[in-house]
Amino acid sequence: MERERGLRLASYKQPCLKRRLAVRMRARGVHGYGDYAALLDRAPEEYDLLLDALTINVTKFFRNPEAWAALRERVVAPLVAGAGPIAVWSAGCASGEEPYSLALEFLERPWGGGAGGGKRGATPAARLRLEATDLDPGAVAAARAARYAAPAVAEVPAAWLRRWFSPGPPFLLDPAVARLVRFAVHDLTREAAPAPPYHLIACRNVVIYFDRPAQERLFERFADALLPGGWLWLGKVETLFGRARERFVLEEPRERLFRRL
Ligand SMILES: C[S@@+](CC[C@H](N)C(=O)[O-])C[C@H]1O[C@@H](n2cnc3c(N)ncnc32)[C@H](O)[C@@H]1O
Repeated sequence: MERERGLRLASYKQPCLKRRLAVRMRARGVHGYGDYAALLDRAPEEYDLLLDALTINVTKFFRNPEAWAALRERVVAPLVAGAGPIAVWSAGCASGEEPYSLALEFLERPWGGGAGGGKRGATPAARLRLEATDLDPGAVAAARAARYAAPAVAEVPAAWLRRWFSPGPPFLLDPAVARLVRFAVHDLTREAAPAPPYHLIACRNVVIYFDRPAQERLFERFADALLPGGWLWLGKVETLFGRARERFVLEEPRERLFRRL
């Protein structure tokens, strides 16, 4: 798998990996790992199906709305109110709902000297650098297409849905928003951060699939990639541990917002 597709299976939790392999083996009627390996050699299209089974793309706009409310208040508003460029990375972005939600959060703040105190005259596009990456090329292609079914947009505030999407379904995201996000295929278990330093790294519901050493390595890379005072945002059931833990303060325990020292 690593040879064929560059996916480092050793970084994934064994039980999770075994469950997903079992799904594919059942689907192909294969009983042992050796037979499945032989099948992968014989039928290269099976690699794509296995990759799909391993990379669970479940996501939606504004997933866990309470966490987004905390992000808005603690992170987005102060960044917009400050001056200078803002760099954000959505790591493990699946089909784009998370980075596009981030784009909407920034767009919907009062910029240009409004009540939020954004820098006068600076547009979001001019100040914001928003990168989004995922291991799964299919997910990245879907993210670039920016077309969404109704369940994906269920948590989008009604006024924002009217303003930034075509009437759907499918709901097409306004190209002005889509253009704010730069997507790339990227493997968190083996590649460095794309273009540090960042003010915010969102990596939610991704590290739970990795084993402990892989998580620890990744957290250290996140710490290195963040500016002092920058934010790391994990998923609801994820936590920071290992050497990198000492480089962060847990500012919002429920919403898993950590701040780099
Ligand atoms: C459950 S989705 C999370 C999407 C989004 N962050 C959210 O919270 O809604 C997990 C994503 O992690 C990606 N992923 C899994 N292993 C990865 C890796 N090694 N590098 C980058 N992304 C990975 C999967 O392809 C999938 O799109």
